[in-house]
Amino acid sequence: QSAATRGTYWDGPSSGLAAALAGCQRCPLHCQATQVVAGEGPEQAGIMVVGEQPGDREDLEGRPFVGPAGQVLLHAMQQAGLQRDAVYLTNAVKHFKHEVRGKRRIHQTPDRHEVEHCRFWLDTEIRQVKPQIIVALGATAALALTGRKDAIAARRGRTEPGLGGVPALITYHPAHILRLPERADQEAARQALTRDLVAAKALAV
Ligand code: URA
Repeated sequence: QSAATRGTYWDGPSSGLAAALAGCQRCPLHCQATQVVAGEGPEQAGIMVVGEQPGDREDLEGRPFVGPAGQVLLHAMQQAGLQRDAVYLTNAVKHFKHEVRGKRRIHQTPDRHEVEHCRFWLDTEIRQVKPQIIVALGATAALALTGRKDAIAARRGRTEPGLGGVPALITYHPAHILRLPERADQEAARQALTRDLVAAKALAV
């Protein structure tokens, strides 16, 4: 069994951590979200992937990365030879922050305080899972893991010292890739994300 897949699958809702998370009122975001979205994956995954926060679909389904950005991430993982259930997937912030406009719920980026309040849970996940490498998807995950909010473009593809002493490999957020207007730029960013996941896999042996 490889380091990436050791341990049993942790389906979130039945775990003690997810039960504790369900009652989280550390910041006001729980008021507007449908439910908390806990991380999921093997109990001791070699690789942890951290996104920003649940999106609309994740908020409704209660699982991370099941919406459009999740599809981009999962495709890149597949290209990198990583199965969804071999990796621990979670977010820097566990509730969906949004604004209601008519019938639509528009994503809002969590602020530094919300990230700091929620870092307690990310830290707990890291202590439990003990990954060898953490992939930070985008600026909010990078902030939560490294304390720095600098632009991703200059940091992408590199590892930085991260939360819990685990190196954080910085890469693009899949939602950022989807927002790129030029198809060629999207394709280049998808390939960069895949390369970064391949690098993470090599570091988790
Ligand atoms: N974007 C994220 O950062 N996390 C998810 O779970 C879904 C979309």
